[in-house]
Amino acid sequence: MDILIKGARIVDESRDFIGDLYIEDGLISDFGKNLDFDCKTINGEGLLLMPSFIDLHVHFREPGNTNKEDLFTGGMAALKGGFTLVNLMGNTNPVCSSMETVEYVLNKGQELDLVDLHQTLSITKDFDGKTLEHLETLDNRVKFISDDGYGIKSNIVMYKAMVKAKEKGLTIMTHAEEEDLTPIDYRISENIITIRDLYLAKVTGANLHLAHVSTKEAIEEIRRAKSEGVNVTCEVTPHHITLWDMDYKVNPPIREKEDVDAIIEGIIDGTVDTIATDHAPHTREDKEKGSPGLSGIETSFPVTYTSLVKSGKIDLKILSKIMSANCGRIMDRKKGRIEKGYDGDVVLVDLNKEITVDGEKFISKGKNTPFNGMKFYGQVVATIKDGKVKYDNKEYSI
Ligand code: NCD
Ligand code: ZN
Ligand code: ZN
Repeated sequence: MDILIKGARIVDESRDFIGDLYIEDGLISDFGKNLDFDCKTINGEGLLLMPSFIDLHVHFREPGNTNKEDLFTGGMAALKGGFTLVNLMGNTNPVCSSMETVEYVLNKGQELDLVDLHQTLSITKDFDGKTLEHLETLDNRVKFISDDGYGIKSNIVMYKAMVKAKEKGLTIMTHAEEEDLTPIDYRISENIITIRDLYLAKVTGANLHLAHVSTKEAIEEIRRAKSEGVNVTCEVTPHHITLWDMDYKVNPPIREKEDVDAIIEGIIDGTVDTIATDHAPHTREDKEKGSPGLSGIETSFPVTYTSLVKSGKIDLKILSKIMSANCGRIMDRKKGRIEKGYDGDVVLVDLNKEITVDGEKFISKGKNTPFNGMKFYGQVVATIKDGKVKYDNKEYSI
């Protein structure tokens, strides 16, 4: 599909200018001033145009838990949030431990034709904490393996998983939690596994990606590991950079102001690679019964933009880097940058629009959010994928 967007402020990790962007046959083909092509044209004046966002960590709950979310509602919610590529976690029913389940999800995603999907495979079979044989059966559609939702207790199992990941070119995504320690001190619980997995990545040479990093100690350890050349990347969530001392059930928990400050310092100095929502929708009943997690994909941009850019801590280029460019790099896709030949996936945003979060209005089946009633800046106006308008906010005429 061909589309021309004119007069927008165009920002990616290395550019910030007012101009036009042309997408041809689904790919970014040209950008600059005064472009003129005979095709669908959108007036972007007064709006920000960025590469659409990429989320390395979401739970769309399919197969098996579609009362919480499914690939359709998750995909629609992602588009509303400005995302066009998401990485799905495997804590579904069944647990995603086979290529059959991966194939089911990817095929359904293709049929729905909403956002691009990557499906993570479990590290241990059915999250049993020990069996790794199923890793022999995966093919190159799988790039990440994770038991997200659970930690991996056994050192030998994690060591062997990393050796296997290194051999197969996979990235291990760690949910850093030592469940026996969690009831006593969830800070120690996260830190001890972070330290162990950084060490194992160092000695095995495996690629490690630390999910939802939330403590100042973990940030410091990751900074040191990076300086030693360990193959590690990490993500932080919008809630862990915005909230502190709040009693909202999520794993890892909402921390303290010092942790928030340390994470933001990590974003500024490049220790933190990406923002990931850990979009974890639950039914109202499950949430009331104590299920951890929040539905975060529709609020990610306004929360992150307001906390980091509006507050003056980072500029829009860095925001684009952590919400798009770095994620594209980690996922090894030509996405997340304004560059000729990259996928024509972009988002139009109104930075001046103030929004008040109301979970009841989410497209996601999960209405659970700690941000209810809070005000943020930044409204996604349109999400374009492969040159096609996939989401269009009706309050704006583009
Ligand atoms: C996640 C979920 O509900 O699947 N919950 C959460 O609190 N983050 C699991 C996880 O990401 O660990
Ligand atoms: Zn997790
Ligand atoms: Zn998760």
